[in-house]
Amino acid sequence: MTPYDAARKTAEELRLEKRLKESEEQLRHIQKVHALGRLAGGIAHDLNNILSVIIGSAEFLLKTTPPGDPGRADLEEILKAGGSAAELTRQLMTFSRKQAVRPKPLELDSVIPGVLGMARRIIPKTIAFKTALKSAPARVLADRGQVEQVLINLLVNARDAMPDGGTIQVETSRTGSGAGRRVLLAVSDTGHGMNRRIMGRLFEPFFTTKDPGEGSGLGLSTIHGIVRQSGGDIHVDSEPGIGSTFRIRFPETADGDGTAVRE
Ligand SMILES: Nc1ncnc2c1ncn2[C@@H]1O[C@H](COP(=O)(O)OP(=O)(O)OP(=O)(O)O)[C@@H](O)[C@H]1O
Ligand SMILES: [Mg+2]
Repeated sequence: MTPYDAARKTAEELRLEKRLKESEEQLRHIQKVHALGRLAGGIAHDLNNILSVIIGSAEFLLKTTPPGDPGRADLEEILKAGGSAAELTRQLMTFSRKQAVRPKPLELDSVIPGVLGMARRIIPKTIAFKTALKSAPARVLADRGQVEQVLINLLVNARDAMPDGGTIQVETSRTGSGAGRRVLLAVSDTGHGMNRRIMGRLFEPFFTTKDPGEGSGLGLSTIHGIVRQSGGDIHVDSEPGIGSTFRIRFPETADGDGTAVRE
């Protein structure tokens, strides 16, 4: 071994040490996020129980309050606020994955407006939203919370790819025929796109090009897991400087599998 080799080995060791340290930092970050998720889920669960008492009592009072009574308006306000709080706890429980995964026949088009409404609040106005929802009445067998999570992760990635603004397009459609019928969800952005190297590693857990603390690299690997679980697949097209499109195909559920869930 020449002194040059020895020096190189040391450099390699240093590189590995650095990677190990980075992995440990990532792991700590994930553990923190998971702990926060569990905490949020626990609080949401307790809050939900308290809310059902408030909502139940207000409903009872409303039933026993005669029409024209000035107290009715207040009771209706309580019920409205209680309903919003219950919706918030539901979202928190989905976020912390406290809720069991329950695949049901689900009209994909009915999930999207709610998620976009929520996303609109966290995505800057320099980014325009466009939608073309054309898959209804087709249904997929999937868990509503998971489909929401897939879409949110794609929207957040699109936002991160467009720091100077741009357009996010969300489209749904039906393709295929017979047993091969699919419901397609496509999310496109006009962001910085990806090169071949990034495209090759996209779905690896912990793969991220974002700064520490900004990305854990779990978004797309989670999406991949969810989509595979529902028997679907995912394809990505991207061109550096032009933008990216993520296309997810779910098998369409045949009629008679149950009733459409149109919450
Ligand atoms: N729409 C996109 N445009 C350009 N690059 C993207 C896009 N979506 C994902 N990527 C690239 O793929 C990487 C992995 O994405 P992924 O969602 O798995 O993790 P992340 O966004 O970095 O972190 P996390 O989602 O856990 O917060 C990103 O860091 C980014 O480099
Ligand atoms: Mg992401």
